[in-house]
Amino acid sequence: MRNGPVSTPPRVLPPNDPRQYDDLAGEWWRPDGAFAMLHWLARSRAALVPPATRPDALLVDLGCGAGLLAPHLAGKGYRHVGVDLTRSALAQAAAHGVTVVNGDATAVPLVDGCADVVAAGELLEHVPDWRRVVAEACRLLRPGGLLVLDTLNDTALARLVAVRIGERLPTVPRGIHDPRLFVDARELVTECARHGVHLRIRGIRPSLRGTLAWLVRRARGRPSGTVDGRQPRIKPTRSVAVLYQGHGVRHG
Ligand SMILES: C[S@@+](CC[C@H](N)C(=O)[O-])C[C@H]1O[C@@H](n2cnc3c(N)ncnc32)[C@H](O)[C@@H]1O
Repeated sequence: MRNGPVSTPPRVLPPNDPRQYDDLAGEWWRPDGAFAMLHWLARSRAALVPPATRPDALLVDLGCGAGLLAPHLAGKGYRHVGVDLTRSALAQAAAHGVTVVNGDATAVPLVDGCADVVAAGELLEHVPDWRRVVAEACRLLRPGGLLVLDTLNDTALARLVAVRIGERLPTVPRGIHDPRLFVDARELVTECARHGVHLRIRGIRPSLRGTLAWLVRRARGRPSGTVDGRQPRIKPTRSVAVLYQGHGVRHG
């Protein structure tokens, strides 16, 4: 029998178990790592956020993870506050200039109407009750404030593309989604309206050519280098059946 170092196999956790984010903590800021697509989405989400119109403007980033939105907000004039359950991610967000709050996006310890912008990127499809997150996001928004979000639709196509195919690609960690939590786009629009936000949605997807080039570079061991450098673009699509983005202003 050989004696030698025994390697511990990675633990297998249930789908969407938040402990996965601890196991993947080293991946957040690797542009070619398991969270690569979150970088692409963060850039696209940030493009929906206009420059702040007043001093001390606040952007609350619900489920901020490791703060991937931060570099794309630079120069827009917001104080970036991030709320997340995962401490290992928040430590990295803080290192990227985010003021962090360790907490649940359904019960954020901030006052009503404090936020000029609330972002919820790739969060709603990870929470047991997305309606509570929407209510909280709208509570935090000041009248005239902007909600920006992206999530996965509750469709068979989304389950096929995002889970069965997507989780076999190196852009999405396997087991990170529980498709039972995916968010019906029409219900989301209705729920936002109930809370005073007229949400406009559009389908999005990564550019096919950019993604193929990225996969080839990655397979050849030629990393993309920086977070922005040669990363695939997120493009609008006609259909919201898989991945979609929403933005809307809170009235009254
Ligand atoms: C897919 S990641 C998205 C992270 C970030 N928004 C981004 O796009 O890079 C989902 C994040 O939501 C966090 N999360 C899940 N449930 C949450 C909850 N109830 N409250 C706050 N954060 C939560 C996880 O810890 C994780 O960091």
